[in-house]
Amino acid sequence: MSTDANLDGLEVGYDVPALPGMEEQEIQTPCLILDLDALERNIVKMGAEAKAMGVALRVHGKMHKSVDVARLQQRLGGAVGVCCQKVSEAEAFVRGGISDVLISNQVRDPLKIDRLARLPARGARIGCCVDDIDNVAELSAAAVRHGATIFCLVELDCGAKRCGVSTAREAVALAKAIGAAPGLEFAGIQAYQGAMQHLERHQDRKAKFEAALAIVTETVAALAAEGLACGTVTGGGTGSYRLEGMSGVYTELQCGSYAFMDADYGRVLDEDGRRLDAAQFENALFLLTSVMSHVKPGRAICDAGLKVQSVDSGLPSVFGRDDIAYTECSDEHGTLADPQGVLRINDKLRLVPGHCDPTCNLHDWYVGVRNGRVECLWSVSARGKAY
Ligand SMILES: Cc1ncc(COP(=O)(O)O)c(C=O)c1O
Repeated sequence: MSTDANLDGLEVGYDVPALPGMEEQEIQTPCLILDLDALERNIVKMGAEAKAMGVALRVHGKMHKSVDVARLQQRLGGAVGVCCQKVSEAEAFVRGGISDVLISNQVRDPLKIDRLARLPARGARIGCCVDDIDNVAELSAAAVRHGATIFCLVELDCGAKRCGVSTAREAVALAKAIGAAPGLEFAGIQAYQGAMQHLERHQDRKAKFEAALAIVTETVAALAAEGLACGTVTGGGTGSYRLEGMSGVYTELQCGSYAFMDADYGRVLDEDGRRLDAAQFENALFLLTSVMSHVKPGRAICDAGLKVQSVDSGLPSVFGRDDIAYTECSDEHGTLADPQGVLRINDKLRLVPGHCDPTCNLHDWYVGVRNGRVECLWSVSARGKAY
């Protein structure tokens, strides 16, 4: 059922929230459920859009941290591989059989570099980002030590003010160093503009993108002038992928959240002013919760609090219900405004988490549901893999 976890002998309620064949009503809460029909539609849609735009899709596995979801993205969405942010996440994906993994991040700790360089021997193509010349020597020494090849992308800061070099000149110097370093392959550039993804208005995201594209275009030209072919120009997320995809400069998209969606991305509007969760991708991820107390007028208490969701991007919404709202959160409790008093004890509600990535990282399992029944149980393979 799960490609990287054995379900034999697991007890519902203690080890797992549900087992295949159970009714949705019997699932132990709070837990994450996946609407498999919606998930598959999201995956197929993004795959088809990337194909139509002529760009590759390297899905971001840091969002779901699941080998099973990554495999589905490869099978149904034509994903060429996954991205992740940490060496331990890459190890989880490689162990699960994903054979092309990019750490879209810097790897600087000596032990982490060593672990990274061991991964190609397990049959995977492995890459990472670089923004510092010293790191080129560190990665090269580890690759040589393990007889490995690591593909490297020069990371360009195109507006997010996080990692990455800021000028074409610095990018060219790094690309040359990578090209000359034993065990390393210069594969291109990473230019992800994270600061624009969640801006609500399309025109605001577009303005940020145009500034980013100017730096990226200049860098690609500067590399070409030095005879350095930039095979991959990668970036883009759920809030911007059509901009990168149709730019004629980016060759690869790194979208993550589109597969599950969340309440925060739901508020983002597309080029026609429609919510992304209505016009482009459906909510496929839900935090299933049960009503556990209803002794005060107008309010009910459910069992999904802070320990099962991240509220950094806002509280969850209650899926499909305008008559109920999730209004407050403490460790193990959620408060629901129920002005008409319609909720009953043990009623189950689907919450749309405020922010999918950190919410998924709080859980061990995804319960896959179709037509009201549990179809599969998938492990959150890289849950807690933050090193
Ligand atoms: C480097 C990188 N690429 C791609 C993404 C994917 O973004 P999204 O989940 O918005 O699709 C992220 C998300 O933070 C990221 O950090």
